Amino acid sequence: MGRIIAVANQKGGVGKTTTCVNLAASLAAMNRRVLLIDLDPQGNATMGCGIDKAGVKHSAYDLLLEKVRCVDIVRKLVEFGFDLVPGNADLTAADVALMGAARRERRLANGLSGVDTDYEYILIDCPPSLNLLTLNALVAANSLLIPMQCEYYALEGLSGLMGTLANIRATVNPGLRLEGLLRTMHDPRSRLTRDVSEQLIRYFGESVFRTFIPRNIRLAEAPSHGLPVLQYDKSSRGAVAYLAFAGEIIEKDEKKPGAHD
Ligand SMILES: Nc1ncnc2c1ncn2[C@@H]1O[C@H](COP(=O)(O)OP(=O)(O)OP(=O)(O)O)[C@@H](O)[C@H]1O
Ligand SMILES: [Mg+2]
Repeated sequence: MGRIIAVANQKGGVGKTTTCVNLAASLAAMNRRVLLIDLDPQGNATMGCGIDKAGVKHSAYDLLLEKVRCVDIVRKLVEFGFDLVPGNADLTAADVALMGAARRERRLANGLSGVDTDYEYILIDCPPSLNLLTLNALVAANSLLIPMQCEYYALEGLSGLMGTLANIRATVNPGLRLEGLLRTMHDPRSRLTRDVSEQLIRYFGESVFRTFIPRNIRLAEAPSHGLPVLQYDKSSRGAVAYLAFAGEIIEKDEKKPGAHD
């Protein structure tokens, strides 16, 4: 059974999509079977994988509406080694389309139940809000991965997200674990970054990933070429950091007995 990881933070621009695309490519480079689901109406992960979001026939929206089976939506990105369920502006309508619908927070979980054995990792790129889309991701997921920038307001936002995690556990998904906190756009020379980073480790301990992602221009450029950074510039600091991050995730999984049975 594959692991389903929701990549979420209601704060915008913290590196959710960059993490999804590059973690997917890095896990694939380590021979893991990976599916990336773009659950954000912005469709940034889709574009970042070189797919024209406006031109896709079926997207994650159709999965939520239970119109099409997941296997019929999946795009095989042969050159990157992973699969993608694209997302686009259609997803904006999901809230309204599912208003009053039965089991509306379980649509994604149901849609994935047919494919979760085909992959070792299923990553879900969430929009920057705690709406029905993110809720669907958190209900479908086994764990929550939180990318964050080490800046002053980051910790404040985090307490809201931890509250949401507690709520979800208490209601719709008791098994939801915290995968961990990933420090993104990290600049160890900055005093503030170091201070916030220290506070984070003091409070969350082992839940803070050892690997951090540095601020790196190659990571910012790669999406405009429709490429993960590994394909754009594999020797860049960004590419090396995401490979290390994938390695850390795999290592943690291998330590857990029976994690991939
Ligand atoms: N480590 C990094 N170094 C440099 N630029 C980065 C890095 N990570 C992300 N970026 C850039 O920062 C911007 C925001 O990143 P990204 O789109 O991944 O965030 P997000 O959390 O998905 O945003 P949103 O909340 O809008 O979905 C993008 O322009 C991206 O290219
Ligand atoms: Mg994003």
